[in-house]
Amino acid sequence: MISKDCFFIVVDSTLICWDFQAHKQYEMSTAHAQRLMYLIENPGCVDQACAIDQALISAGVVKVDQESTEAWGWDVLSRIYHFGTKNIPLEDVPVDETAWAKLYLEHCESLWQKQVPLERQHSGAESGIPLPSRTCEGELEKVLLRRSTVREFLDFPLRLESLAKILQYTLGFVDERELPESCGLPDAFRKRRCSPSGGGLNSTEGYVLANNVDGLDKGLYYYEAASNRLLLKSVDIPQLGALLSGQHFANNLPVGVFFTSRFDKLWWKYEHSRAYRNALLEVGHVAQTFQLMSTSLGLGTWLTGALCEKEIEPLLKLENAHEQVLFFVGCGYASGEATPESLRELAR
Ligand SMILES: Cc1cc2nc3c(=O)[nH]c(=O)nc-3n(C[C@H](O)[C@H](O)[C@H](O)COP(=O)(O)O)c2cc1C
Repeated sequence: MISKDCFFIVVDSTLICWDFQAHKQYEMSTAHAQRLMYLIENPGCVDQACAIDQALISAGVVKVDQESTEAWGWDVLSRIYHFGTKNIPLEDVPVDETAWAKLYLEHCESLWQKQVPLERQHSGAESGIPLPSRTCEGELEKVLLRRSTVREFLDFPLRLESLAKILQYTLGFVDERELPESCGLPDAFRKRRCSPSGGGLNSTEGYVLANNVDGLDKGLYYYEAASNRLLLKSVDIPQLGALLSGQHFANNLPVGVFFTSRFDKLWWKYEHSRAYRNALLEVGHVAQTFQLMSTSLGLGTWLTGALCEKEIEPLLKLENAHEQVLFFVGCGYASGEATPESLRELAR
């Protein structure tokens, strides 16, 4: 059987076999490509004594064991992108904050070697229409201006009431859409949040990492929006940095939420891979609401998409493979610093 996790593409006159689950690429010789074509048409003819078959098996392109038949409801484009960008193997995962700061500084220094993308040039010929300058009159404007990403948190607990408020306004349901009975929309899909939702499906879910919350044991909880409850999923939680690609400056974040998307809900309504964008965009909207609500409560916020899914997923105890973790946003009392002390010290 040929692996469902490989695609083939021509790059610089060479046929490349790209195993997007294993994050490996192989150049295919003519002999390997011809043999593979033969095995595609004759799947029962794999010969383990043949050197080419052995190479194809050891690369995982040809499977001798039964392949898992994990469902995917969109076409293959989004499957390649989703799994091809998940569980990225990192050469150097920082083991502590100092190691992270060193690696990050090296990364910044390597960036300065490259041409910086040009800003859009103003054309003198275009006079443009000047707009009135920004005003800051309402509460919303003040919160929008105060929101910023911080990377230094204080060892100060969050109140359970604050967490509840953030969750209710981020993921909780606020009311129901008025639609005629005849439209046949299931009741579950009438619910509305404070953020827009692709197709009104509310496919975004949240798993709360409680690290330092007054009145709540440390652990990872599912926020059940319909009942406004936290359901305990895991108690032994590794340091946050180890789950988030070595960003150890976030280890003392009092609270964070892992946002997942229920792809199966989106599959039900939209067949094309384009709906995968909706999953990402919806999480982005919800994440912004989380940040604005947290900011309005005087908290600092931090966010990342650099997830180590293999480590995170077992803690979330996801009930089916069609729910996938996509993003993390945290909040807490903070110094207001965008740069952690470890990095400031190294830069000095
Ligand atoms: C999609 C997305 C991913 C991000 N990932 C990270 C991250 O991995 N680590 C981090 O420290 N900040 C991350 N950030 C925060 C950005 O660095 C930050 O928003 C940016 O520097 C602008 O600063 P501001 O949020 O204070 O306006 C991310 C932001 C977005 C929108």
